[in-house]
Amino acid sequence: MRSAGRHFLQIPGPTNVPLPILAAIGQPTVDHRGPDFPSLTLNVLEGLGRIFQTSGDIVIYPASGTGAWEAALVNTLSAGDTVLMAETGHFSTLWRIMATRLGLKVEFLPGDWRRGADVGAIESRLAEDRSGTIKAVAIVHNETSTGAVSNVSAIRRALNTAGHPALLMVDTISSLGSIDYRHDEWQVDITVGGSQKGLMLPPGLSFNAISQKARRAAKNARLPRVFWDWEDMIAANAKGYFPYTPATNMLQGLKVALEMLQDEGLPAVFSRHDRAAEATRQCVRHWGLEIWCAEPAEYSSALTAVLVPENQSADALRSTILKQSGVSLGNGLGRLADRVFRVGHLGDFNDASLLGALAAIEAGLLASGMGIRAGGLSKAIAVLNTDGPLQAAAE
Ligand SMILES: Cc1ncc(COP(=O)(O)O)c(C=O)c1O
Repeated sequence: MRSAGRHFLQIPGPTNVPLPILAAIGQPTVDHRGPDFPSLTLNVLEGLGRIFQTSGDIVIYPASGTGAWEAALVNTLSAGDTVLMAETGHFSTLWRIMATRLGLKVEFLPGDWRRGADVGAIESRLAEDRSGTIKAVAIVHNETSTGAVSNVSAIRRALNTAGHPALLMVDTISSLGSIDYRHDEWQVDITVGGSQKGLMLPPGLSFNAISQKARRAAKNARLPRVFWDWEDMIAANAKGYFPYTPATNMLQGLKVALEMLQDEGLPAVFSRHDRAAEATRQCVRHWGLEIWCAEPAEYSSALTAVLVPENQSADALRSTILKQSGVSLGNGLGRLADRVFRVGHLGDFNDASLLGALAAIEAGLLASGMGIRAGGLSKAIAVLNTDGPLQAAAE
């Protein structure tokens, strides 16, 4: 049955795709071996460098983020190699399972899913590993299942302090283009990204940003790889082409997405996410509900996971909100199933979209008899009005 009015896609990705990007994707498909194609390839590779904050190599896969996870592992490691991972939530767990299925040995530092990676535990494990058994440290920057961010620069320092040569791999699938991230400055070896979150594109593209050290490691890495091979990509990309058919229309959309982010300016993009996140948290606190991330310094600016009261169903609440107001919220994943709902505040949105979503959540909470305190929006508005574009313009 038709529902009137705009549907609000407030999940933590895929995010709302702005019309100029949809229009670019909807352009006629071009010849990916034709004379005009290299200018598109070179343009998007250069623009991606600004987003990853790197002057190094980047490869673009016609795949979801899971593909770029696999690419990071198979290009740099050999069967039996040890990878140190930190249990931050559902996505770190899926990456661990993938690594194990590829024949790697994973040391999984335990976590309670309520905070980012434990830097102290990483540092002590690296310090113990004098023989250099650990070949890579793999971290999820923004854990999309919990709304907790790991401190990548501190993990880099931990590697340096321990004098450990392991590669540093970071998943930025839900932080890229939303939360400050610096591939070169933080000396990350492989950064994994995806199109469908901060970059405001549909799902379908994913990325590896690659350090020179990672490229050297790839020369000796023996896990089988064909589709994911960096060297084939980098060699073809140098001439503006791809080793196989790229997702041409998505690349046309990517060009526009990168221009839009450039036009807004990355610092402004990050602060827009920060204030939406703070407004959301103030609203949630007023309702009397608990923010799932237990460490304020690690709160995510891309999403907020909210715990529902004991004996209540987060999924039933989400379903009420969708039916009542046409707002889709993220579900609880893995062990958080039915316990939390996740509010995505990333990608293309403004104050009106945020306030609309929060109003719909409040209506749903009240309709579901969750015993919350009404009036959370006033707290969100107070944040937006003290830290907003109007104030910036007046200064
Ligand atoms: C942090 C993180 N890593 C990995 C993935 C997997 O990416 P995909 O579903 O695009 O394959 C996701 C998906 O949401 C994610 O949020």
